Amino acid sequence: MSVHFDRVVTSLGAAARSFFCLNYFFYPFTNTGCYGSIISMTSLEKQNIADFLDLTNDYLSCGYLSEKKVYDFDNTENFIENTQGSKNDDSLEQIALEIKSCQNCQLGSTRKNSVPGEGVTNPLVMVIGEGPGADEDTLGRPFVGKAGQLLDKMLAAINLSRNTNCFIANIVKCRPPNNRDPYPEERAACSFFLHRQILLLNPKIILLVGNVAAQSLLKATEPVGKIRGKFFDYKIENVTIPVLVTYHPSALLHNENYKRPAWEDLKLLRTKIDG
Ligand code: URA
Repeated sequence: MSVHFDRVVTSLGAAARSFFCLNYFFYPFTNTGCYGSIISMTSLEKQNIADFLDLTNDYLSCGYLSEKKVYDFDNTENFIENTQGSKNDDSLEQIALEIKSCQNCQLGSTRKNSVPGEGVTNPLVMVIGEGPGADEDTLGRPFVGKAGQLLDKMLAAINLSRNTNCFIANIVKCRPPNNRDPYPEERAACSFFLHRQILLLNPKIILLVGNVAAQSLLKATEPVGKIRGKFFDYKIENVTIPVLVTYHPSALLHNENYKRPAWEDLKLLRTKIDG
């Protein structure tokens, strides 16, 4: 589920209540002379604070909620084991962190912010675009400019949204200067991240918007106009995911004639989801 302001406020409230309703007492650590706080808190109160800290971490690192962690505060051994264990597993948070510091291609040196993607973690649909533009580069979030607003409207027309049932990502995670198409070596350098995202998200359907996405993921050689309107199989490890290609929303902003076929594609997508 994506980060919701109401969830932040609720968690903040719970954390604040936990802090202020408790008996604090301070004692000196005899040898160091520093002061620590021992707080007689219930496990629920500790969990509320941990939830809030996890939520803040999710917000700062990648912008979507990781699975809620339940801590066993009374069993320190378990807690340490669990924390270490989860480090070895791949996760969306881990991918987002790697993307943030990635310098595997030249886009790493010109970006303001990387844009790993955002949305729910068990999506019906994973939408894949080309790469961040200026607005996305500034905010570190995918599809937030004019094209992104149109994409949100298109998805809403078939009851889809990045807040409830979609994940939005791009072929490359950093902005190509002047919004040029990403070069093949840049797409290749980033495919490692997209591959892992697809595996983790395991969407029911992938929607590719635009030529770059279709060329990169399906190795399509024909333009969107020729390959839209039908499903392809995308095989990744031992999973097969149906893929639909449609026009990029920025193409729709420039050419009215694409709107009708794009709408046909969206209806086809909805039928497949419901089927
Ligand atoms: N265009 C894209 O392909 N992706 C974005 O995130 C924004 C615009």
